[in-house]
Amino acid sequence: MPALVVVGAQWGDEGKGKIVHFLGEGADWVVRYQGGDNAGHTVVFDGQKYALHLIPSGILQPGVKNVIGDGVVVNPRAFVEEIKMLEGRGIKVKGRLFLSLAAHVILPYHVYLDTLREEGGRGIGTTKKGIGPCYEDKVARIGVRVADYLDAEAFRKLVRRNLKVRAAELAKVKPLKAIEEEVFDGYEARRKFLASFAADTGLLLDAARRKGAKMLLESAQGSMLDLDHGTYPFVTSSNPIAGGACVGAGIGPTAITAVNGVTKAYTTRVGLGPFPTELDGHIAHYIREVGKEYGTTTGRPRRIGWLDVPQLRAAIRMNGLTSLTMTKLDTLSGVHPIKVCVGYKLGGKKVSEFPVSRRAQLEVEPVYESYPGFSGDLSGARKFSDLPRGAREYVLAVEARLGVPILIVSVGQSREQTIVRDAAGLWMRQDPRS
Ligand code: GDP
Ligand code: IMO
Ligand code: MG
Repeated sequence: MPALVVVGAQWGDEGKGKIVHFLGEGADWVVRYQGGDNAGHTVVFDGQKYALHLIPSGILQPGVKNVIGDGVVVNPRAFVEEIKMLEGRGIKVKGRLFLSLAAHVILPYHVYLDTLREEGGRGIGTTKKGIGPCYEDKVARIGVRVADYLDAEAFRKLVRRNLKVRAAELAKVKPLKAIEEEVFDGYEARRKFLASFAADTGLLLDAARRKGAKMLLESAQGSMLDLDHGTYPFVTSSNPIAGGACVGAGIGPTAITAVNGVTKAYTTRVGLGPFPTELDGHIAHYIREVGKEYGTTTGRPRRIGWLDVPQLRAAIRMNGLTSLTMTKLDTLSGVHPIKVCVGYKLGGKKVSEFPVSRRAQLEVEPVYESYPGFSGDLSGARKFSDLPRGAREYVLAVEARLGVPILIVSVGQSREQTIVRDAAGLWMRQDPRS
């Protein structure tokens, strides 16, 4: 019973959606385990492009069943809208999507609080989707779960109580009564809609596992945005790392058979916070335009930098990565030379690991190694040997530095623009460091 976790190895937007959809063809279930509609996962196939925020990328693979797990935060309005969008494009969703009764619900006041903080000078560059405030309520044990949302009487009581708890902050937005009305505007229709997808997903996944189902666990965000292990406080409010898959899907760690980390051939970050290899000037501009580096959810331009080996080694460690996927190799075509950060300097001293302290994360200076780069159009390559020599050398050099096999190389947005170097190795537990 293989269960493969696919995580972002950087600061998000690594191409997880593309890879989960690609691997989803061989899977029975795809499970989203954390985050919410702050995610934007792009999937391109048969000339069609989909931007998914909340629904697992497996929904675009006809034979696959999908779960929004316990650890996800769900905005009911976004949930309805995304399903309508999919159905409008001919994708069958009913009977193939299950929403955990234990997932927490994002309500309009969470979005107001997120926006208020972002615009009130205390911002970290969030997506303003209410993610942080919703997880705050969860941890404070006052949150509203899907099961509560479906119980009209319990829901009304919880909302009234929570609006009182948040009254001082919310008063800056609009009268509490108006916010309460907004929460309940159209509620009955949404409640019925959500009810038709709600399930005890822990039980469903356990039954599937017993039958030998093949499972993909789809992370949102990235390792460096992890609440515990990322560049705190410039992080999201959940645990995107592989450990989060057990918590957020409700399955034990012994069920996980392998973990694939998705990294771009360079690095991007959207939102504020440390980014040691960040570039400005013409190379950043070139990569941003060629790689279309604008946020899928917010449209914000992504910050661009070189690949960062200590950062990726941290991701390998915290996720127990058994393999890597490298995306967007095609975007680096024509960039000469390509640089890779292989360590840092801080106060004249050598630093070989990604630092924990905020100050050190901001102050480290990258030490680079240069590669000559490559030219030409990579997007037609289907085998590793189809790639220009400079591109192969770049992948192999990074692989050697990281000590984890790069089993998939992606050379374009579309599904077929994917090179698999070893399919069998992907789903098996094989800790390359042990
Ligand atoms: P996710 O959040 O990790 O799913 O990534 P996003 O969808 O937010 O951002 C990745 C972007 O890169 C999307 O527009 C993808 O279609 C695109 N993409 C993924 N892989 C490749 C690739 O190998 N080459 C190119 N040029 N684009 C890619
Ligand atoms: P996918 O799944 C990139 C960033 C935000 C901000 C921080 C906190 O598409 O990779 P939040 O709204 O979560 O409270 O914002 O996290 N962020 C992402 N960056 N990709 C994402 O998702 C992101 N989701 C959140 O920009 O810096
Ligand atoms: Mg994204």
